[in-house]
Parts: sequence; structure tokens; C-alpha cells
Amino acid sequence: MRFSATLSMAMASFSASALAMPAEPAVRQDAVALPAKLVPESIANATALGVDVWGPIPADATTGDGYYKAEPGTPGWAWIRAQVDLAAYEKELQARGLSVPEGVEKRQATNIQLNFFTGDWCTGSAWHFPNLGYGVKAVPAENVYIYSVGFSGRTLRANEYLTLRRGDFNGDRCAEWHGTINGPTEPNLCWQIEATTCFRMNQSVN
Ligand SMILES: *[C@@H]1O[C@H](CO)[C@@H](O)[C@H](O)[C@H]1NC(C)=O
Ligand SMILES: *[C@@H]1O[C@H](CO)[C@@H](O)[C@H](O)[C@H]1NC(C)=O
Repeated sequence: MRFSATLSMAMASFSASALAMPAEPAVRQDAVALPAKLVPESIANATALGVDVWGPIPADATTGDGYYKAEPGTPGWAWIRAQVDLAAYEKELQARGLSVPEGVEKRQATNIQLNFFTGDWCTGSAWHFPNLGYGVKAVPAENVYIYSVGFSGRTLRANEYLTLRRGDFNGDRCAEWHGTINGPTEPNLCWQIEATTCFRMNQSVN
């Protein structure tokens, strides 16, 4: 799908051009509705379920150590999946002079959020870590392998990287490094990754 990319095991380092912030256009008087085909499918799906993608995560999502978790077909899942595509949607709205909710302003100040999935291309059971900190291990409570991941809130900065780790079920699931997503990253990507049991974001020293 259009907001997806494949991550090779060599681990990609994306160009910094994606970081250029678009100038903020004024809201136009003659703004027209966004054509339906430009609304990311995940946003359309969430909206159809009555989910406000800029609002808080729906209450049906369960909570764990630093995360929310949701299963496909639920409002919580639709919200998490939509977060991955939210920046692209906002860009489309802004390009047409359509207003975006106040929540967007607030979101700029938030920490980076990590969304990961048991299936390929951001499908399957979903976890949302709303406030990913440096050096913190992001691990689901269940013994599962994660196969795709997307950021929301903001992207990885040039001096940040996310390590992909793997370890035995019921053991140290962060034991071995097996890959890295290096910043800066582009928004709205669903990264395909090899089986991963643990994530950890760090900041480069220089
Ligand atoms: C949106 O919903 C349809 C129908 O349930 C589903 O096939 C599709 O995969 C969903 N899209 C996303 C991005 O989750
Ligand atoms: C990442 O952060 C953790 C926790 O602060 C630290 O123990 C580890 O050495 C860091 N890893 C690298 C590669 O810098």
C-alpha cells in the first residue's frame, strides 16, 4: 500500500529530505472536502467505527507495561493503525487548506510513539507505546513475534535509532540485537521487520 516500505536486513538509513517541514498554509475560505480516495484506508476504517483518530485511544484497548494493546476489528485497533497514517492525512488536509483538529498542535510536542504488529504490513494484534523513552525496552507481555512497526507522534530524529531485538519466549526477550532502524525516518511508513520480540530506542552520543 502507498504508505508502506520494505526494510531490508541491511537496515535502511533514509534521507533527511523528509524532515523538511511544509510551510503552514492558512485555512482557506473555499476549502473543499478531501476526495475520499486521498483518505488513508486506516483513517477511513477508524472513522467508520466512530473513532476520533485525534482523540484518546478508545477505552476497549487493554493496557500493559507502558503500552496499549488491541485486536483487529476493535475501535482500539482501528485507532492504533490509524496513528501510523495520521501525518500523511494531515498533510493532505493542509495542502487543501482544510483545517486539522487542535489535537495536531498538541501532538507536535509529544514524544515519539511506537506501534507494532504481529502481522505483516501493520496487521494482526497491535501494541501502541505512547511515550517511548530512550533506553526503555518495549516488550509485549505475551510471547509473540512482531513483524511490522510504524511510528506516530513524530518520526525518529537523525540522532536516534531503534534497535530490534530478539530473545527466548519467557526468557530475556531483548537478549540479541538483530537490526536497527536509523533516524531520520519518514512519516507514515509501515516497516517490515524480521521476527522481533523487543524494541529499544537510543540516542547517538554525537
Ligand atoms: C480496512 O478495512 C477493510 C475491511 O475490513 C480491511 O480489508 C482493510 O485491511 C482495512 N485497512 C486497514 C489499513 O487496516
Ligand atoms: C542504549 O541505552 C541503554 C539504556 O540506557 C544502554 O544500556 C545501552 O548501552 C545503549 N545502547 C547503545 C548501543 O548505546
